Amino acid sequence: MNLERPGIALIGCGQIAANCHLPGIQASPFALRAVCDAERERVERFKREQNLDASVAVCTSLDEILKLDGVQAVSIATPPASHAPLSIRALDAGKHVLCEKPSTLSASENRAVCAAVARNPGLTIQFFSSRFRDGAAPAARRFVREGRLGVPYKADIQFWLPAARTCDRGGPPWFGQKAHAGGGPFMDMGQYFLDRLFFILGWPRWRRLSAQTFSGFPTGNPPGVVYDVEDHMSLLAHFDGGLALTLETTARVNQHYRWSTTVAGSAGTLILDNAAPRRAVFRALKDGVPVEEDLEAPESAPDMQARLERLALRLKGERPELGTDHEQALYITEFCEAAYRSAAEGRELRAPEEAA
Ligand SMILES: NC(=O)c1ccc[n+]([C@@H]2O[C@H](COP(=O)([O-])OP(=O)(O)OC[C@H]3O[C@@H](n4cnc5c(N)ncnc54)[C@H](O)[C@@H]3O)[C@@H](O)[C@H]2O)c1
Repeated sequence: MNLERPGIALIGCGQIAANCHLPGIQASPFALRAVCDAERERVERFKREQNLDASVAVCTSLDEILKLDGVQAVSIATPPASHAPLSIRALDAGKHVLCEKPSTLSASENRAVCAAVARNPGLTIQFFSSRFRDGAAPAARRFVREGRLGVPYKADIQFWLPAARTCDRGGPPWFGQKAHAGGGPFMDMGQYFLDRLFFILGWPRWRRLSAQTFSGFPTGNPPGVVYDVEDHMSLLAHFDGGLALTLETTARVNQHYRWSTTVAGSAGTLILDNAAPRRAVFRALKDGVPVEEDLEAPESAPDMQARLERLALRLKGERPELGTDHEQALYITEFCEAAYRSAAEGRELRAPEEAA
């Protein structure tokens, strides 16, 4: 086994492991040392179907990974309920962690992850996979930092998936179950969008929010299969500096695919739209004439690869910026929890520091 390259183990051998984690690892400076799934049949099939080298170990638990040499990091691609326990155990065993979204099921789980990072200095954790996804968010952040957007006063997020991952598309049932997923499309994809927006705008503090959920589409699930997450989330939030955010996340919209973030500033509007041919543009008026500027960052690698390249530099003692850290993930989870609570209680909520 070549131990020159840092080693990584991939935990969870489902859909996103095959589509994103594995190709990202293979394109990165890391060597894949192990694949792991709680179900032996799945991990063995994954190794076979992905034509992995014989030297890649097959494991059915994190404990088995921890017995291997040369594993510096783990990449967690399991359902959300296992994110906190796996992350904490891996950090306490001396591993760097990359973990899928949503970071955890609750803010209290997030705080336990923060405590694990604090007691393991030098180790890192990165959540989500939206920040470096296509270079658009870093380019937009640069644009905002240079003051070219002016004062941001209104952001809007729209995520529409015409069919739920689980009942409408035959995906695993856990996507529709609060106990496993933490929530519906708002937890699942809303966190991506919040991470991207907060990253672009420098983590503005929210002060008040009001949210409403809707659940009521027929699920199409066989009897006995739980589907207890929201179908739709509508939200209005107010931030320091006069910024307002409207957000809509849905996986049952019966309409077309939509994946868009806009940020209006006093100098023009940023539009990040994954469904558009140009993913990041700035629109403004110049001498009364509408102009458009392309913000695409051509140098960007896909997110997983970009995050691993940054982690590899970190292992060499450099300090590149990493993906979403534990504190940022906590902020996002607290925001999401407040939104679900506002919807459940039918009232506006104030941020804890505002209410105090
Ligand atoms: N499917 C997508 O399009 C997508 C996109 C982006 C992110 N994600 C996120 O990636 C994660 C995984 O999603 P998925 O769609 O690949 O799910 P999946 O159900 O297809 O795969 C998850 C795999 O994890 C295994 N597993 C569960 N608990 C485990 C544990 N404790 N230890 C080891 N293995 C365990 C399961 O057996 C399964 O094979 C989720 O957090 C999801 O939100 C999914």
